[in-house]
Amino acid sequence: MDMSKSSSLWIWFKCWAVSVSLTGTLLGASIEDVRKQIDPATGKPKDSTTSFSVTGVVSARATVEGNQVLAVIQPVGAAGVPLLISAADAAKIIPRNDVTLTGTLQEGPHGVTALKVKEGSVTLNQTNKAFGSAEPRGVSFFQDASSLEGRYVSLTNVTFVAPKFDGSGLAKVKGEGGEVLIWLTPTLKDRDVPAGAVNVFGVPVKRDGQWVLLAARFLSVNNRTAQTLATKHTCMTCHNPDIKAVGPAYRDVAASYRNDPDAVAKLAAQIEKGGGGKWGVVPMPPLGAKVPVDDRQQLAQWIYGYRWDALLAE
Ligand code: HEC
Repeated sequence: MDMSKSSSLWIWFKCWAVSVSLTGTLLGASIEDVRKQIDPATGKPKDSTTSFSVTGVVSARATVEGNQVLAVIQPVGAAGVPLLISAADAAKIIPRNDVTLTGTLQEGPHGVTALKVKEGSVTLNQTNKAFGSAEPRGVSFFQDASSLEGRYVSLTNVTFVAPKFDGSGLAKVKGEGGEVLIWLTPTLKDRDVPAGAVNVFGVPVKRDGQWVLLAARFLSVNNRTAQTLATKHTCMTCHNPDIKAVGPAYRDVAASYRNDPDAVAKLAAQIEKGGGGKWGVVPMPPLGAKVPVDDRQQLAQWIYGYRWDALLAE
């Protein structure tokens, strides 16, 4: 080993480390760097003074105590860290937004260590960015989810235990082998839970010493079947569930109807009769002659299922 080289490297490193601690801001830190500052044994921050400036995509999100928002920021395809944001900046912290922000590690609500975001420090770089595919997991995995902490996961084939959300910010789902708590926004209070079996997407976090899933999205377990049906009926040549194409993203369509009790009927009517003027200048052709009534109904229900994305982000 070349000693002179390694010692000059060491001096360089020391200078860099001193400059970091003097300014107190680690610009362009990676999310992995920030994760390393959380003690794996206790879950508490090792360093609460350095301001980390990070860039990543927002995945799960819920409103929590004190009118704050708890969300997760991830590098695409890798583990993220929780964020705690005040209401003032929360509008930029919605799932699929790619953001740059600055914060210090603090112990947040329910013992979750999070990067407490400095007010006014959030820059929106891009919307609609995917954060990588979900790793499917069953209920029993949540006994100890430490190996997937901070990762985007789908909890597959579960049903909600209560018929309505109660505003506590928690909901219980059951699947083969037990139950898991889902952490979600209390604004869902009094809404009916999704009907039937669902896959719940989100990020495992340890809340008050227990593994729960901070929710990002609910999709019916029939999602793939519906998507195949949509492909067969050429919907996917103009639409994508998540991204605007010739036609609007189904996620945006569902969000705009999220409080409309007649939403499914209206969406089914659009498929039958077509129409324009709501999303742009290009109209949608009528497809009633090609798409049978049962399929229209199924597609309308599937599209409306994407409303949970918007409701969970409230
Ligand atoms: C040739 C392109 C094209 C095809 C094929 C197509 N759409 Fe559309 N769709 C559009 C456009 C454009 C709009 C926006 C119309 C507007 O601005 O009101 C739209 C709007 C919609 C809406 C939103 C209605 C609303 O009230 O907001 C739904 C739902 C929808 N399409 C479903 C479907 C389904 C399901 C299929 C397949 C059976 C399909 N579309 C096939 C282009 C298409």
